[in-house]
Amino acid sequence: MTRVLVLYYSSYGHVRALAQAEAEGVRSVPGTQVDLRRVPETVPEDIRQKAGFMTDDTPLAAPADMEAYDAIIFGTPTLFGMMAGQMKSFLDQAGGLWARNALVGKVAAVFASTGSQHGGHEATLLSTQIPLQHFGMLIAGMPYTFAGQTSAERIVGGAPYGAGTIAGADGSRAPTETDLAGARFQGAHVARIAARLARIDRAEEAA
Ligand SMILES: Cc1cc2nc3c(=O)[nH]c(=O)nc-3n(C[C@H](O)[C@H](O)[C@H](O)COP(=O)(O)O)c2cc1C
Repeated sequence: MTRVLVLYYSSYGHVRALAQAEAEGVRSVPGTQVDLRRVPETVPEDIRQKAGFMTDDTPLAAPADMEAYDAIIFGTPTLFGMMAGQMKSFLDQAGGLWARNALVGKVAAVFASTGSQHGGHEATLLSTQIPLQHFGMLIAGMPYTFAGQTSAERIVGGAPYGAGTIAGADGSRAPTETDLAGARFQGAHVARIAARLARIDRAEEAA
């Protein structure tokens, strides 16, 4: 089995909805197993409550868990033009994995939810890839074979750099069917690449 982790942070549910669609996409590829996990909250409870953050019953991941997977798909909202601090804090705790080259050669991908169309959507997708490249991970985007991303008639999330949605300034836009299809596409895309690489590893081990 090829093991894929979909790992996210979400305050209001947009990223979580995309994460669930990513996991569906992974599951559609035979021979893959997917786990859906979230990173720990870092915001104090009183601020969480005032800001109306949702309660999320998705199991938590620990940084050390990442080593067990062939591929990891990271989801984050755009906060001030970049990934959420919750996700960055999680990655900052993975120095031990970095020191042992434990994530080198694993497949990584990123998806994001952003309030406004030009509020840092692509910047978040791209800049989140930077620490993943420091880990030596191989970045998979959301290729133009997912044609849904090219529409100029409607608001669509996502880019060649990863799947996404536009939540609206007040968060009232739910991910559209196109955005969810993009996330499913990216999940399947990552799973197929990871399965191919795992086949090569197994063949090399057997030789
Ligand atoms: C502290 C904070 C900073 C934000 N910064 C941005 C931003 O820079 N650009 C933007 O378009 N939206 C911004 N947003 C809106 C979030 O991107 C939006 O709430 C998020 O996509 C919703 O995802 P979620 O429902 O998974 O939490 C910000 C929201 C918060 C709470």
